[in-house]
Amino acid sequence: MCGIVGITSNNDVTARILGSLKKLEYRGYDSAGIATLSDGNINEVKCEGRVESLEKNISRTNLQGTIGIGHVRWATHGKPSTLNAHPHSSEVVSVVHNGIIENSTILKKLLEKKGYRFKSQTDTEVIAHLVTDYLKKDNLKNTIVKVLKKLHGSFALGIIFKDQPDLIVGARRGSPLAVGYGPDENYLGSDSYALKAMTNKISYLNDGEFCIIKKDLVEFFDSNAKKINKKILNLSKNDQSIDKGDYKYFMSKEVDEQPITIKNCVNEYIDKFNKQINIYNFPWKIRDISSVVLIGCGTAYHACLIAKYWFEEHTSLDVTVDVASEFRYRKIKFKKDSLYIFVSQSGETADTYAALDICKKNKMKTCSIVNVVESSIARDSQLVLPIHCGPEIGVASTKAFLGQMLVLYLLCLKISFDKKIISKKKYSEKIKYLLSLSNLTKKTLKVDSKIQKLCKVFANAKGCMFLGRGYSFPIALEGALKLKELAYIHAEGYPAGEMKHGPLALIEEGMPVVVLAPRDDHYKKIVSNMQEVISRGAKVLLITNKSKNEIQSENIWETIEVENISEDLLPFLITIPLQKLAYYSALEKGYDIDKPRNLAKSVTVE
Ligand code: M6R
Repeated sequence: MCGIVGITSNNDVTARILGSLKKLEYRGYDSAGIATLSDGNINEVKCEGRVESLEKNISRTNLQGTIGIGHVRWATHGKPSTLNAHPHSSEVVSVVHNGIIENSTILKKLLEKKGYRFKSQTDTEVIAHLVTDYLKKDNLKNTIVKVLKKLHGSFALGIIFKDQPDLIVGARRGSPLAVGYGPDENYLGSDSYALKAMTNKISYLNDGEFCIIKKDLVEFFDSNAKKINKKILNLSKNDQSIDKGDYKYFMSKEVDEQPITIKNCVNEYIDKFNKQINIYNFPWKIRDISSVVLIGCGTAYHACLIAKYWFEEHTSLDVTVDVASEFRYRKIKFKKDSLYIFVSQSGETADTYAALDICKKNKMKTCSIVNVVESSIARDSQLVLPIHCGPEIGVASTKAFLGQMLVLYLLCLKISFDKKIISKKKYSEKIKYLLSLSNLTKKTLKVDSKIQKLCKVFANAKGCMFLGRGYSFPIALEGALKLKELAYIHAEGYPAGEMKHGPLALIEEGMPVVVLAPRDDHYKKIVSNMQEVISRGAKVLLITNKSKNEIQSENIWETIEVENISEDLLPFLITIPLQKLAYYSALEKGYDIDKPRNLAKSVTVE
């Protein structure tokens, strides 16, 4: 989604703004632009498409300046185009903006009446004109306070001013914004990742705050312009696995990294010597928790759905799972003995953050399971459980999904053990299985060559279905989501038992159907469901685990067998062929796998 960079320095900033925009590319965007100040003028270069094209345009224009702002845009108001790309400038200011200004139509009409002319269809341009208008009557700081009060919605802003050759204003409401500190220069960024190449000293703005950044000074203010102090955090310089290495796409690298992801996470949470799960700084008494509410979006939501099965099987807790965008607007009856768990790779998903904020305001117990530990969701939760995956760049979430499931599983077992529900013997057994999971994941990754052959059928399909029962049902949803987002194929994930209640009508001759049927409690039932789709012409790809027992079914198109582990951990292994299936189907169709159309890595607008 949209990304912001700003630099004020003694040296030319253009190349470094471009470099930071490249870092933000992983978020997903459709246009890009830069504005700098030089010789008392605002200079803008913008384009539709990639930062690479912006770079070419800049080399033709010789854009220069010791202060500048840059942006990658993911269209909300107005189609992706050069005109709608940010920055948006008036005669006197230039603005980059993440988020949505909900009252932009009204503000635009008022400004048009005053004679301001709009070039774009964006909501952002109103900010440029509004600032310009207030500056006619007031000083810079009062202008910012007044403008921010006029704007409805959520946003992060970066603003430069024609007559201020060394000053960037940053402001935050709802969308994340970070300030970076350098030697004789300072920075603004929509996340610390954008600034990592320049600094590891970061401060974060909270909602309602704004900042004034000069090359030798940074000042923070609350919404009434009262000066506030901020902590400077030292972030880890560890930028591991940010390049693709020998891989064509980040996604395939990230899928292959999953054994390491699991190993790192297991090492962080399991004390191998004492054979126990450690969750340090758990801030509540375990007896004060009698239910959990799991909240996330997309793939993170699917991880929550699987966790519901685990919590129900291994603990006595009531479990509710909710999509964050629904949770935040429902009339929730908050319960003091509930633990609210927010799952998010980026830690910046707007809906998940809003759901957390509501729980915080209602003084609930909040825990987040995140990959980015410096994220807004992590910073605002009482307990943070990192998934230790390293950066995930591909828009499709893969290794983070396994990491999310793993931490949820560990938390579930830990609660079960502390509440004395799981026996010591079973607990030790589970830990043994967890210690073998990384290796089994590695072996399962070898399904590669078989899947490559099958993906032609999927790539040419009008649509397909993923069926599962029990633990495999959320994995069916995840498999369908991956195929949709990467290969743009209409795919449905369904609980196999629901087929007769409608979706069976979709099955026609040659339709690919992926059946997830590990040899668990549901095995016999799902084999019957499989038979029902085969007899209606479906081409079934069966995904199961290795077994001595033959599969009691005829006319299965293809079978893929994953390694064996305890039933409740099989979701980790059966996910892998589905990730590969989506990857190779998208590859077959020649799509941009790391940046699927219309999607963003970090969904910072609702
Ligand atoms: O960063 P988050 O985990 O909060 O992101 C949530 C979803 O946007 C994300 O999982 C999305 O569904 C993925 N692109 C799916 O692969």
